[in-house]
Amino acid sequence: AFTPRVFSGIQPSGNLHLGNYLGALKRFAEAQDRGTETLYCMVDLHAVTVWQEPADLTRATRELTAGFIASGLDPTRSILFNQSQVAEHSQLAWVFNCVARMGWMQRMTQFKDKAGKNAQNASLGLFAYPALMAADILAYHGTHVPVGEDQKQHIELSRDIAMKFNHDYGVEFFPLPEPVIEGAATRVMSLRDGTKKMSKSDPSDMSRINLTDNADAISRKIRKARTDPEPLPMDAKGLEDRPEARNLVNIYAALADMSVDAVMAEAGGQPFSVFKPRLADLAVDRLAPISTEMKRLMRDEVAIDTILADGAARARAIAAPILRRTYDIMGM
Ligand code: ADP
Ligand code: NA
Repeated sequence: AFTPRVFSGIQPSGNLHLGNYLGALKRFAEAQDRGTETLYCMVDLHAVTVWQEPADLTRATRELTAGFIASGLDPTRSILFNQSQVAEHSQLAWVFNCVARMGWMQRMTQFKDKAGKNAQNASLGLFAYPALMAADILAYHGTHVPVGEDQKQHIELSRDIAMKFNHDYGVEFFPLPEPVIEGAATRVMSLRDGTKKMSKSDPSDMSRINLTDNADAISRKIRKARTDPEPLPMDAKGLEDRPEARNLVNIYAALADMSVDAVMAEAGGQPFSVFKPRLADLAVDRLAPISTEMKRLMRDEVAIDTILADGAARARAIAAPILRRTYDIMGM
């Protein structure tokens, strides 16, 4: 049996948004607060699978770290670190490149989405990304991975890799990590189009609430969010064919720590002219302090770099013996 250990990561590629907060950061903090051992990683090696301006990457890594801390991650209780500072990720990824099969990788829908029409011109790293992700988790014998729904397929691949390694070498060395996907906001949608996921890569800034947005911007984006003209239905079932309305209710529920049913019991039948200002007030109440704290933390880069260096040392202390043992099992 493996001790429960939570691992997850976010790419430092700018524009941390409400989807990242509700789908990831807020839940990372909840896992930490339950007392589970938690490791959270700024995955810069994943970020460079597509082009990153060097200075922007450095800044985004610090900003993401500030976002973690401002969202309630405590560097003394969670291990917060930057992926490229712990070489074991790359080393174990190579092993997993040799375990994973081409056919498995070719089934990954995120590669198809991200590579687009010109897949021949995508980097080899973008294709191999899920094997690196398996290494991120398994270098710590991670058992639970809180992520948004979009990452489910990658966690399944991590399980396949762990299973094949264990089977090929006749060991029970790697745990089979489980995705932890729960709550109303595992998929926060764009404020401009309820059928598209809220994303940092959406060209429209009005489509997402950035964690660096101030109170005015948060409020304006919610008031301008696209909706249909009908008032909210009386219950959650009435939200099924109304993606924009459902998205705003999900966001409300997640921010208020309420179930969707409880929100509908309160707000069912309200026109958006009433519901949106209430949601805007709630969002400002919950998010503006995060934005303020991120800006404060960003003023002391040395302090952030020190937190990351300390986190990397603690992460390496766990990962190095696991990599050593992996090589031993393989006869290396
Ligand atoms: P993006 O999708 O904006 O490129 P990442 O891929 O870096 O963001 O995702 C970081 C984390 O945030 C992952 O756990 C992912 O599942 C989660 N996440 C990203 N977008 C959303 C969203 N719209 N709703 C819920 N969770 C999300
Ligand atoms: Na994503």
